[in-house]
Amino acid sequence: MTDRYALFGNPLGHSKSPLIHNGFAKSLGHDVVYSLIEAPLGGFAPAALAWRDSGAMGCNITAPFKLDAHALATHRMERADLAGAANCLKFEPDGRILAEMFDGIGLANDIERNLGVAMRGKRVLMLGAGGTVRGALAPFLACGPATLVVANRTATKAVDLSRQFAAHGPISGCGYGDLGGERFDIVLNATSASLRGELPAVPATVFADASLAYELAYGKGLTPFLRLARNAGVSRLADGVGMLVEQAAEAWVWWRGVRPPTRAVIDQLTVPLV
Ligand code: ATR
Repeated sequence: MTDRYALFGNPLGHSKSPLIHNGFAKSLGHDVVYSLIEAPLGGFAPAALAWRDSGAMGCNITAPFKLDAHALATHRMERADLAGAANCLKFEPDGRILAEMFDGIGLANDIERNLGVAMRGKRVLMLGAGGTVRGALAPFLACGPATLVVANRTATKAVDLSRQFAAHGPISGCGYGDLGGERFDIVLNATSASLRGELPAVPATVFADASLAYELAYGKGLTPFLRLARNAGVSRLADGVGMLVEQAAEAWVWWRGVRPPTRAVIDQLTVPLV
């Protein structure tokens, strides 16, 4: 029997997820099919339950349904609870619906394992304070940075978020205007500014010591954020393709108890940052 999984979202136009998951299935020899389901806005729960009732094993969830997926679950794993959102559901034979959030661990794994940049003892700057950042804070603090600063256009959101995660490690929140004179080893852009070709109003001085600038969006080439980082002398630039593949690999560990190899799929999907 073929095991079925899918990605729920709206819109799903350019999703690379089927290529990634079907690639994992092929490389591991698993009888798995992964498809795309564009549920209507406001209609996640009935669509996901119909998918479960058709005999499917689970699903991933992208915008705008990550909060709905969290709400639909009967049981939430710690990361989903901390994130207040889920990007992965597992349908259990006894009817339970388990929720997980792998975006943050996928990002941390991409930085540490694939890019070979250890976060321990580093000064890390995260731009943005939306759902993606919320999901990344606990896994990041678990990597042991010297400090994790969350900076956001709306400063109060960053300050609130940092307070909620204060028990997990050295974290603070601020607005972009508060970053003058601050320097970081790793700078990440988790705002949606790049999707519109915009640049968060961050001073270029934050990159003075940086060895890595990471754009969480993927396949957008040299975004304004990455261009700013490059012009400021950052030698290592990355986009979120590795994060996407690594969160997919975490889903396989959870769903199927096996970690697929990720390098070949990342290489296949990587768009050169020129
Ligand atoms: P996601 O769930 O994908 O993280 P989100 O919750 O919509 O997305 O959050 C989007 C983030 O991008 C926010 O941090 C937002 O800043 P505000 O909280 O101030 O709105 C940020 N953002 C969007 N456009 C931006 C821009 N042009 N410049 C700077 N930040 C921007």
